[in-house]
Amino acid sequence: MIIHRPPFTIHHYTSLGSTNDHLKAMTAAPEFTCVVADEQTAGRGRRARAWHSPPGAGLYLSVLLLPRTDSSSMIPLISLSAAIAVAETLIERGVANIDIKWPNDALVNDRKVSGILAEAVGEGLESLRLILGVGVNLNHQSFPPELSETATSIAIETGEKVVVEEFRDQLLEKIARWYEHWRRGESTLIVDRWQRLSTYARGQRVIVTLDDEKIVGVTGGLTETGALRLVVDGGEVKTILAGEVTRLRKTAD
Ligand code: BTN
Repeated sequence: MIIHRPPFTIHHYTSLGSTNDHLKAMTAAPEFTCVVADEQTAGRGRRARAWHSPPGAGLYLSVLLLPRTDSSSMIPLISLSAAIAVAETLIERGVANIDIKWPNDALVNDRKVSGILAEAVGEGLESLRLILGVGVNLNHQSFPPELSETATSIAIETGEKVVVEEFRDQLLEKIARWYEHWRRGESTLIVDRWQRLSTYARGQRVIVTLDDEKIVGVTGGLTETGALRLVVDGGEVKTILAGEVTRLRKTAD
């Protein structure tokens, strides 16, 4: 089924392996093509993890963007913008205690409610096709044991069922708005908004897991391209471009 929500054209499916994979295979799709499924049988997360995607419980959505930039360092700001869009949608719906964990996990009461998997396809920066995959836990009543300590859903947190299509349309509107800010080069606006929505931005003692090492430090805000500044013991400032952040304890509120 095709649904028009300008600028997006939504292709809706009952079941797919992964909405990201499906959109990736649509090689001639124009910008703002969007793929949504009621369930994913092979939903993927960051760092080669699976994304738990039972039928009707979550929003599983992928959006195609053609950023046409000559600066690859600006690309991460697109997924930070999408995380802002998720957080703002949750806030607009009255969900309390929203946080963003760098780079783009949305949390409610310190548990993960949404994640973003941005994948680039295409040759060269100029013809880059960016597939922005967003998963949001909406109506899950429980999670498999390996997620039960760290994941949550809107229904668990608020006791209210969410109409998936309503959430989808609200989120798409915000993604379009923040992508427009990105296109206009308003990186300071994006970084400032992200920092205001995240308790992780500054003064948090965290451990950052990189591919082959772990670094402990205190967060010192984002750079103008969305990288995380980490002040390590001794005062040196490291700039983290990719990694998994875990809070150690609160040092500031
Ligand atoms: C993460 O690990 O935090 C990212 C999760 C991304 C999940 C979404 S669901 C829609 C899209 N299709 C996928 O296979 N993954 C993303």
